[in-house]
Amino acid sequence: MPGPASVRFEDVAFRHRPGLPYVHQQVSFEVPGTGMTAFVGPSGAGKSTVFALIERFYEATGGRVLVDGKDVRDWSLPQLRSAIGYVEQDAAALAGTLRENLVFAAPGATDDEIRDVLARTKLDTLVERLPHGWDTPVGHRGSKLSGGERQRIAIARALLRKPRLLLLDEATSQLDAVNELALRDVITEVARETTVLVVAHRLSTVTGADRIVVMDAGRVRSVGTHEELVGQDRLYAQLTATQLLAPAR
Ligand SMILES: Nc1ncnc2c1ncn2[C@@H]1O[C@H](COP(=O)(O)OP(=O)(O)O)[C@@H](O)[C@H]1O
Ligand SMILES: [Mg+2]
Repeated sequence: MPGPASVRFEDVAFRHRPGLPYVHQQVSFEVPGTGMTAFVGPSGAGKSTVFALIERFYEATGGRVLVDGKDVRDWSLPQLRSAIGYVEQDAAALAGTLRENLVFAAPGATDDEIRDVLARTKLDTLVERLPHGWDTPVGHRGSKLSGGERQRIAIARALLRKPRLLLLDEATSQLDAVNELALRDVITEVARETTVLVVAHRLSTVTGADRIVVMDAGRVRSVGTHEELVGQDRLYAQLTATQLLAPAR
């Protein structure tokens, strides 16, 4: 069983088309296996593009994107994608039951595996509360769920596939304190055994990260821990002071 994946950007440049401005310019950073790395920066800084380049939704215009030390262009696409769990910003739940929502991308998952993932994502109390447990329909687009629950379901769905790398584009919607805490705990827990990269919009996620990559206008401004960056990076200090790491899209 291969362990958590490492990620490395080497002077990555990227633009969507010739003639368009560069979205990444000389982006470099290194992420070892396991642990949580938070990406912060103003809207349009290029954070989500980091994920898109790792997944090879796009290919770098210059430089290299490496997963496990291997250029993503040298990976077979199915192999690369199956190593990665990707949780989109404002992840929607699907019509159908909670169980169907979870096994959607992992049809072979056993009940034990589902129970385990529900406990890890702190959804076991939700299941107890639902009238028919995990066989309860959660409504079109998960409208009967809170934003925090929907995102934890999306994480649970990704975890059932046993990813070696979890990419999480955090929701910007305001979560209540309980949901926010639960989400932070889940991410911290997952990061013990999987490499977690999170585009973080919440201060509580960022302060708990092992390293923070501060991006602005397609460049990496600085990398460090919360304590290091507060004193060293004016933009970072500003973002954390307003408790608003990025405006809602
Ligand atoms: N499909 C696209 N075509 C052209 N430009 C794009 C496209 N997608 C995103 N961009 C531009 O790329 C830049 C970075 O986007 P993104 O990585 O989503 O930023 P962030 O996640 O930090 O808010 C933005 O200026 C955005 O307008
Ligand atoms: Mg984004």
